Amino acid sequence: MAIMQEVKEVSHLMNKIFLFFAIFFLPQSAVAMTASVENGKKIYDIHCFQCHGFEGRGDGSAATYLARRPRDFTDGLYKLKTSPPDVSRVRDEDIYHAISNGMSSAGMPPWKNVLSGQEIWDLVAYIKSLTDLFDDTENPPPLDISGRIPYSPESVQRGEMAYRELKCPECHGPLGEGPPTKELKDDYGQRIWPRDLTRSWTFIGPYTPQAMYARITNGIPLTPMPAHVLPVFKDKLEGMRWDVVNYIMWLADTAEKRRAKQRMIISIILLVSLAVTAPYYIPYLRRRWAIRKIGRR
Ligand code: HEC
Ligand code: HEC
Repeated sequence: MAIMQEVKEVSHLMNKIFLFFAIFFLPQSAVAMTASVENGKKIYDIHCFQCHGFEGRGDGSAATYLARRPRDFTDGLYKLKTSPPDVSRVRDEDIYHAISNGMSSAGMPPWKNVLSGQEIWDLVAYIKSLTDLFDDTENPPPLDISGRIPYSPESVQRGEMAYRELKCPECHGPLGEGPPTKELKDDYGQRIWPRDLTRSWTFIGPYTPQAMYARITNGIPLTPMPAHVLPVFKDKLEGMRWDVVNYIMWLADTAEKRRAKQRMIISIILLVSLAVTAPYYIPYLRRRWAIRKIGRR
């Protein structure tokens, strides 16, 4: 009997140890399975309703002061989508990362330093419950990004041609800096400007080759930025998209070097003109200084 009791206790202890490790080593997406819609609503009603509205329709009281309309969660569409292009819904992880990292240049704050991972998963569950788009579908797998073409001068050269062939300059300009040839509007009817591709800090999504590849493949839903997935040149397009990514990174790099050079030239011109005109303003400044000293006495 005592032995049985001991065996039971040991197995109980083993269970506890297993649970402890399971919780710590489970992948993040598995933690999402235990997310609580009710807790998500509580957090939403503290941090999110001001912009996204009480019912998640993107019509909070602060929305009128923002250049961009906050997302309307009742239509279930998201901009940062890394699911395959033939699947219309985003991955749960996409919503998680959007909340965690924010979209600073668009007025959506990052929450990773305010909320815990579990709280963000609870928010994902709550936001998903506001539309029926997610009801009968599984979380899709991520887009296949295994064909990455490494950065090289040859790839950049091919990317430049692909950039033109895919008509990116129509919106992003010949060198990625704009201006667009036509006036663009998003699905909410608001004026929208294509991203200046040479200023990575203004991006709404992460500035990594993989994230840019996903953005070019899927386009940006709710905006005129199109998906690039024509099945006709599927194989050709695969390489073209990676080459374009390398070209954009090259564009950003050269533009940054050019801007640094311009800043240096302007600083040199300013310093030289200050030195050349010094004989004129130094006596004047000295006189003013002397008068102030006398005034203080
Ligand atoms: C200061 C206003 C503001 C607050 C507060 C705010 N958001 Fe947003 N949010 C925005 C704006 C604006 C956008 C749209 C950005 C765009 O379209 O480029 C947005 C977009 C989003 C998106 C869409 C991401 C995508 O890929 O399309 C999600 C998800 C989101 N917010 C969740 C939240 C959650 C959850 C909270 C609360 C923890 C929150 N937001 C708080 C302004 C806000
Ligand atoms: C019809 C116009 C249009 C065309 C064509 C177009 N884009 Fe865009 N693109 C946009 C707009 C508008 C945005 C900004 C969306 C936003 O801010 O929500 C954008 C944003 C982007 C972004 C920034 C994503 C981020 O995280 O901020 C990248 C990268 C990009 N486009 C690359 C391309 C490439 C490469 C091509 C050609 C293969 C292309 N675009 C073709 C309109 C266009």
